[in-house]
Amino acid sequence: MVDGFGLLGIMTNRENRIFYINDIDIKGKALFIRVDLNVPYDENQNITDDTRIRGILPTVNYALDEGAKIILASHMGRPKGEAVPQLSLAPVARRLSRLLKKEVVAAPDCVGPEVREIVRDMKDGDIVLLENLRYHPEEEMNDEDFGRELGGLCDIYVNDAFAVAHRAHASVVAVTHFVDVCVAGFLMKNELLYFHRAMEDPARPLVAIIGGAKVSSKISAVENLLETADKLIIGGAMANTFLKAIYYDIGAKSLVEEELVEKARSIMRKARRRGVKFYIPVDCVVADRFDKKAETKITTVQEVPEDWMIVDIGPATSFLYSEALSNAKTIIWNGPMGAFEIDAFSRGTYQMVQAVASTYSMTIVGGGDTDVALHRAGESSRISYISTGGGAFLKLMEGARLPGIVALEECHRRVQEKEEPL
Ligand code: 3PG
Repeated sequence: MVDGFGLLGIMTNRENRIFYINDIDIKGKALFIRVDLNVPYDENQNITDDTRIRGILPTVNYALDEGAKIILASHMGRPKGEAVPQLSLAPVARRLSRLLKKEVVAAPDCVGPEVREIVRDMKDGDIVLLENLRYHPEEEMNDEDFGRELGGLCDIYVNDAFAVAHRAHASVVAVTHFVDVCVAGFLMKNELLYFHRAMEDPARPLVAIIGGAKVSSKISAVENLLETADKLIIGGAMANTFLKAIYYDIGAKSLVEEELVEKARSIMRKARRRGVKFYIPVDCVVADRFDKKAETKITTVQEVPEDWMIVDIGPATSFLYSEALSNAKTIIWNGPMGAFEIDAFSRGTYQMVQAVASTYSMTIVGGGDTDVALHRAGESSRISYISTGGGAFLKLMEGARLPGIVALEECHRRVQEKEEPL
């Protein structure tokens, strides 16, 4: 019931807490569960990674056990408001059905009279997967009427789509204005639990590792982490901008965001003032071009040849970064150490995977590329938690409030104001 929040309720937001699916009675109720089943397809619409489908099973199984009617809704890709057949969720319905060993009805749309009729005929324990929400432009516009239509399908709204919680879309935000009871599912609960454990009251030292190509997409996360982390490790092409900021010549072809060099310098100054240990590469893998047939060599960051480019961290850096991680109690990681999609540029990222997996610490990893590296290295099981969110995870690292969570908090507040127990 309303007071049964447990640890996560307190940690999610000390003031405004949210409700979870197991706080309420769902027996015989129609649940609209917003999930993120945006999984990769190959050219024949075969699912190449079903992690996100498996991720919703705890919530779906719980709802089944409790005797609810389950209406699942998701987006798939970016069809820009058009019904693109290649982005249909029908293959996902089939995979889900196989995983649950139970029929999952693939609805022809997510709104409209036909969908309403399918939902009206549902019995307790039935599962319907609505068609791609983004076939309708209103979804991404956070359109209130569209939200009303979605909300009209159910008694209870459940958000279990962490990976899309940073989007103010109709199935994430507007819909919550038209359903009295809005709660989070178990996947969302885990995502928030691990993240807040790492960032709000971490076992220290807390080490944050940030990689990837562009400083611009990670700068807010780096700045926010300066407030919390004990050590900040930088890798990937974004490290180049920091190297430039301390006046290294890193080759004409290395990716650098010139307009952020001054910002990178001020971040390093701030880290020093705050006593945050800030790590940038000491050596690197350089290539004569960005190609799998490129010639490569290892150099110190002081000696990058003029017409070569940095494509990975070097072995000395990998060793030093592993040392820096060895006493960590909490590690949070987003972004690869190099252009690891090319084998010759991937060693730094895989060595980081080994280093993180080998520590005796709570390890949380987020972001599509980092996740891929972990899976390829076969080390996922040695990581405490792998987030299903890319953009949403990064937003949390930035210290931002996610619209999907804010919507659930507002629902909580509405219920509290009415002083009605759920
Ligand atoms: C993701 O894959 O990160 C989520 O499904 C969100 O997708 P989007 O970036 O297209 O909103």
